[in-house]
Amino acid sequence: MSEAQVNHPEPNQTETIAPTAKPTDVTITVRPNGPFRVEGAIKLVDAQGNAWNLEGKPAISLCRCGASANRPFCDGSHNKIGFQSADTPVKVG
Ligand code: FES
Repeated sequence: MSEAQVNHPEPNQTETIAPTAKPTDVTITVRPNGPFRVEGAIKLVDAQGNAWNLEGKPAISLCRCGASANRPFCDGSHNKIGFQSADTPVKVG
């Protein structure tokens, strides 16, 4: 399995990470006008490496609209703000 470059929000900063799981172990579904639904065994950490306790959660929804009061998790606020997204896969690279 190869390493991947990860872009940071800050311009021109990337880091190289080595995947620790098979790609098929996790499924991320882009919900129409909503969150990223993440299913599978994952570890979710903040910028300091502190992990959220996801024990017993087979799936989580991550906010991508920015309006959730419970970020990084979705709290349904995307519906209240009328979040809209275009989710057509495009070739990268
Ligand atoms: S995607 Fe649901 S609150 Fe942001």
